Amino acid sequence: MTTIGILGSGQAGSTVARAALAAGYNIVIANRRSPKTLAGLISDLGPGARAAWAAEAAAAADFAVVAFPYRPEDRLPAEELAGKVVLDTNNYMPWRDGSYPEVDSGLKTVHELRQEQLPAAKVAKAFTHIQHHARSPIRVPSDALPGLFRLARPAGASDRRALAVSSDFPDAVELVTRFYDELGFDTVDNSPLSESWRSAPGTPMWMQSVDGQSRRELLRNLQRAVRPAPEGVFQG
Ligand SMILES: NC(=O)c1ccc[n+]([C@@H]2O[C@H](COP(=O)([O-])OP(=O)(O)OC[C@H]3O[C@@H](n4cnc5c(N)ncnc54)[C@H](OP(=O)(O)O)[C@@H]3O)[C@@H](O)[C@H]2O)c1
Repeated sequence: MTTIGILGSGQAGSTVARAALAAGYNIVIANRRSPKTLAGLISDLGPGARAAWAAEAAAAADFAVVAFPYRPEDRLPAEELAGKVVLDTNNYMPWRDGSYPEVDSGLKTVHELRQEQLPAAKVAKAFTHIQHHARSPIRVPSDALPGLFRLARPAGASDRRALAVSSDFPDAVELVTRFYDELGFDTVDNSPLSESWRSAPGTPMWMQSVDGQSRRELLRNLQRAVRPAPEGVFQG
C-alpha cells in the first residue's frame, strides 16, 4: 500500500487526501499546529488516514504533497523527503506568501526555488489549477464539491479534463501522470520547472481552473502564456 505524506491540511491538503484515500492510498497528514488538532479531520477521512507532525509525515511517505502557502521563513523536512517525489501545490501569491526577489525578478520560478530548497528530492508542480473548494456560486448540487471531485471523469470520457505537471525529473512526471489518471484526469507535461511560469496565477490556463480544460485546450493555453517582463529589465 502506497503512503502519501501530505503537509498542509487546509483546502488543498484535505481535498487531495480525500481523493487519494478514495483511490486506495494511505495518507499521513500534517498541519502547522499539531496532530492533535487534526482529530476531527482524521475521523472524517476514515480508515487509511492518520495525523502526524510534518517531519513524521514526510518520513512515512512514499511520496509527498506540499499543500501549504509556503512563506520565506518556512522550512521543509528536507532530509525526510530526500529521494522522494514531492508534489508542490503552491500558487505563488506575494500578498499571501511573502515575496521572493529571485522569483519576482523573473530569475527563476517558485518551483525551481522549491527544488533548491529540497535538493535531494524530486519536486513536481501539481494540482495548482484545480479548485480544492466548492464552486461559487453554487448553481447545481455538484457545484458544492471541490473541482478535484466535480470535474473527475473515467479514462476515455469525452469530457475528461487535463491537469498540468512540471518537473525536472521524468519519473516524477510519470508518478504524477499515474496519480492524476487514478483521480480522474489526463496530464499535460509542462516540464521542466523553469517552464512552470506558464501555469502561474493569472495565465490563460490558470483562468480556466473553475471548469477545467481538455488536454488540447490546456496545451493551447500553456502555449499562449506570456511571461511578465522581469522587474527592472526595461528600466532606464
Ligand atoms: N485552495 C485551493 O483551491 C487551491 C488550489 C490550487 C492550489 N492551492 C495551493 O495550495 C496551497 C494550500 O492552500 P490552501 O487553500 O489549502 O490553504 P489553507 O486552506 O489556508 O490551508 C493551509 C494549511 O497548511 C498548513 N500549514 C501552514 N504552514 C505549514 C507548515 N510549515 N507545515 C505544515 N503545514 C502547514 C496549515 O496548518 P494550520 O491549520 O495548523 O495553520 C493549514 O492546514 C497554497 O500554496 C495554494 O496556493 C490551493
